[in-house]
Amino acid sequence: MNYNNLLIEINNRTAVVTINRPDKLNALNKKTLEELDDLFSKLKFNDEVGVVILTGAGEKAFVAGADINELNQLNAITGIEFAEFGQSVFNKIENLGKPVIAAVNGFALGGGCELAMACHFRVASENAKFGQPEVNLGILPGYGGTQRLSRIVGIGLATELILTGDMIDSSEAYRIKLVNHVYTQNELLTKAKEIADKINSKGGFAVQMSVKGITASDELSEKDGLSYEASLFGLCCGTNDFKEGTSAFLEKRKPNFTGK
Ligand code: COA
Repeated sequence: MNYNNLLIEINNRTAVVTINRPDKLNALNKKTLEELDDLFSKLKFNDEVGVVILTGAGEKAFVAGADINELNQLNAITGIEFAEFGQSVFNKIENLGKPVIAAVNGFALGGGCELAMACHFRVASENAKFGQPEVNLGILPGYGGTQRLSRIVGIGLATELILTGDMIDSSEAYRIKLVNHVYTQNELLTKAKEIADKINSKGGFAVQMSVKGITASDELSEKDGLSYEASLFGLCCGTNDFKEGTSAFLEKRKPNFTGK
C-alpha cells in the first residue's frame, strides 16, 4: 500500500511513524486509518523493529480528532461501522506485541487522544493539549475513549473530561498520569528515541512478553493474569537472552542480547 498520510522512518530498531496531514491538524480520515491498519500489520512481523514511536507532523497537532467532514456524513448504521473500524485499528496498535510510544506534539483531541491512549505510554511536548470534545459535536468518544481514559486516569476524571469536553494542557496531563513525561517541543522526539533506545537495549523477547502481560491485565482477572504471566515468564526462561542475561550478571559483564 502507498502511504499518502503517513511517514515512516526506521533507525536503530525504532520505527517513527508520523501522521502527516498537518494542514488538517493530522485529523484521522478513513484513508489515514486504513494506512495505519496496513502499516501496523506489517510492523508486527518486521524483525528490524523493536519499538514504535507514533507522532504527528508539524508543531501544532498530534491528531486533532477524527475527520469531522467524514463524521458529518454518518447515520446510525454507518456510525457503528465507523466506530468499529477505528476501534479495530487502535486495538491492533495496542496488541502489536511491541511497545508503541505516543510522542504527543500538540493537540490530541477526540480520536487523537484515543490514539495516544491505544499506545502503551505517552510522552508530550509542553504545548500539547488533550481532550475528548465529542460532546460538543453531539457524539461520544467512539474509538475507545470511554474505556481507556478511565483505566488510565480513573473513572471520576475520565467522566468529567468526557462530559465537559474540556481540554487540558500537558502539565495537567502529567499530573493525572495521562503522560509519563513532558519535554520541550524541540526535545520531544529525541527524548522519545532515547527511551526507545533504552528499551531496544534489553532482551527483545522479554520486552515483547512484558507488553503482552501488561496489556492483558486490562482484560483478565488477577488469577488469570497471574497464570498468563507465569506462562510468559516460562517462555522467557527458554530463550538464549535469558541464559545470556543471567550469565552476564554472574560474570559481571554487559549482556549481549540477540532477541532470541
Ligand atoms: N477534522 C477535520 N478537519 C479538522 C479537524 C478535524 N477533527 N481539526 C482541525 N481541522 C482542520 C480545520 O477545519 C482547518 O481546516 P481549513 O484550514 O481547511 O479550514 C485546519 O484543520 C486548521 O484548524 P483550525 O480550526 O483553523 O485551527 P485552530 O488553531 O483555530 O484550532 C483546534 C485548533 C484543534 C482547536 C480546532 O481545529 C478544533 O477544535 N478541531 C476539532 C477538534 C475536535 O472536535 N476533535 C474531535 C473530533 S471527534
